[in-house]
Amino acid sequence: MKLADVTYLPETPAHDLEIDDINAEAFGPGRFARAAYKIREGGPHDRALSFVAMQGGQVIASVRMTPIAAGAGRAQMLGPLAVRPDFKNMGIGRKLVAMALAAAATAGEPAVVLVGDEPYYGPLGFVRIPRGQIEMPRPVDLNRLLAHEIVPGAVAQLAGEVCHADLATTPQLALESA
Ligand SMILES: CC(C)(COP(=O)(O)OP(=O)(O)OC[C@H]1O[C@@H](n2cnc3c(N)ncnc32)[C@H](O)[C@@H]1OP(=O)(O)O)[C@@H](O)C(=O)NCCC(=O)NCCS
Repeated sequence: MKLADVTYLPETPAHDLEIDDINAEAFGPGRFARAAYKIREGGPHDRALSFVAMQGGQVIASVRMTPIAAGAGRAQMLGPLAVRPDFKNMGIGRKLVAMALAAAATAGEPAVVLVGDEPYYGPLGFVRIPRGQIEMPRPVDLNRLLAHEIVPGAVAQLAGEVCHADLATTPQLALESA
């Protein structure tokens, strides 16, 4: 398999079953108990910012983005990100993250947050969110709460409990685009 055989596409409903399978393989049944999963239960993910990697007509990797709110702040939450075992360590995960970040920036999204490993996501542009600034609906290792700021000041506006943006009770505070 050559990397040149891998193509990247925006996600469509036709990819859903394969994506579910990839996430089940990557995260197991425990995925339903994760804090990020709980947030994603609050509403739909944003297909326009979500991407798949394809090879030979099959989905081999996926990244999804879901709009979230925390106080007056808004962001996209990146995840799940998963790559089929046979295709790991080929740069596909990094490429999907880069595509999701670029699409978010183009769409005028203020920031992207995630729960993940800093050694992986740090070089991709994510830094730790200060402890206590936001609260997840289920326990998480606070060292794994990371953010990528697109609009200056956007991460500082995230405060308190994180929920799906469709469930936000505090209006969004306007930020000036960079
Ligand atoms: C994590 C994952 C998405 C990475 O995707 P990938 O396409 O295999 O990774 P890439 O090719 O983009 O990057 C590979 C590099 O990342 C490193 N890496 C992979 N997972 C890592 C992790 N959890 N922490 C730190 N580094 C990691 C590899 O060691 C490799 O390093 P190198 O370039 O120095 O050799 C993939 O391994 C996966 O699906 N894992 C299971 C699900 C998961 O954990 N998802 C992330 C949730 S936070």
